[in-house]
Amino acid sequence: MMDYYQFLKKILFKLDPERAHWLAECGMKFTTDFAPFLLSMAASKYFVTDDRLEQEIFGVKFLNPVGIAAGFDKNAAMIKALSAFGFGHVEYGTITPKPQDGNEKPRLFRHIEEKSLQNAMGFNNEGMEKILKRISKIYPYTTPLGANIGKNKATLQEDATKDYEELVKAFSPFCDYLAINISSPNTPNLRALQNEKFIKELFRACVKLTNKPILLKISPDISEKEAVSVCAAALEEGAYGIIATNTTIDYSLVTNPKNIGGISGEALKEKSFKIFKSLAKEFYNKTVLISAGGIGNAKDAYERLLEGANLVQIYTSFIYEGPSVAHKINKGILELMDKDGFSSIKDAIGSKRK
Ligand SMILES: Cc1cc2nc3c(=O)[nH]c(=O)nc-3n(C[C@H](O)[C@H](O)[C@H](O)COP(=O)(O)O)c2cc1C
Repeated sequence: MMDYYQFLKKILFKLDPERAHWLAECGMKFTTDFAPFLLSMAASKYFVTDDRLEQEIFGVKFLNPVGIAAGFDKNAAMIKALSAFGFGHVEYGTITPKPQDGNEKPRLFRHIEEKSLQNAMGFNNEGMEKILKRISKIYPYTTPLGANIGKNKATLQEDATKDYEELVKAFSPFCDYLAINISSPNTPNLRALQNEKFIKELFRACVKLTNKPILLKISPDISEKEAVSVCAAALEEGAYGIIATNTTIDYSLVTNPKNIGGISGEALKEKSFKIFKSLAKEFYNKTVLISAGGIGNAKDAYERLLEGANLVQIYTSFIYEGPSVAHKINKGILELMDKDGFSSIKDAIGSKRK
């Protein structure tokens, strides 16, 4: 079958990356509102339905392990379309309490040779109230939904906990899990919150406010030792899992870096996987582990699963490979499972750790 995305990509990649994203978003919103039958058609083409891929995590059924990472659908406006493209979960956000424009443009760049992106978006989003109205009309949805939350840029460091508390209370009824984001490089000093003392205070305060699982999303730019201790602190205070990782500020990973923002995609793969492995070594079977960062194909995803990831997430490879990427990865995972003699994804997950 001809991959029409390779043709569409030629046009999209001629546009400024943020404009291309905006166009894709318009297309998905339009289809959702005015041509929902196209979504049903897409779902029958892209959604892989196979018992062997199903698993229950924190009481929620995940039909496949490949989710769309935070930042693609910041305003929870494309959930139905993303689900139709075969993603097994959608993490919407990052949402901040108040609407925010984000950083100055241009703030999104392609590194085509390296199949990577560099972004300095800065949590541009429509804000809690508007997004709550939208998501309350959709939730609960067949595809599990995660709400990724962050502080406003203007909120003082000492008031950061209040922003997270407000968001946890507001979004708990409208998600299957919450993800606390303190790992974006694009909000000044946000990453400084990745310390044990703050993480403990934050989780202690937030878990009291919800019966939904809260996960911590971490940066790949801390040492493996630091990552383990920060995650241990969160888990001690009731965190339900870890998402590793966000983008990196290691600009040596691409040939023509900009001097702002974080790098994602293939250039991030090794760094992200390395951190993930050290976390899995420590926490596999003790908590829910989600791996993100440079996953571009079934082999990449499968390797993360074998190392202990319950789920994986992608963003950049969706831009480079197009709408069929989740389908290809899920089909590929099934083939690799067959080859290794796993009859269920649950047997494959963490098999390298056993
Ligand atoms: C343009 C862009 C925007 C992003 N925005 C967010 C965000 O708002 N919140 C967040 O937690 N991660 C955000 N991310 C990070 C992704 O969720 C993911 O962790 C990272 O890109 C690594 O995955 P990938 O290599 O598959 O892209 C963003 C990434 C990109 C490329």
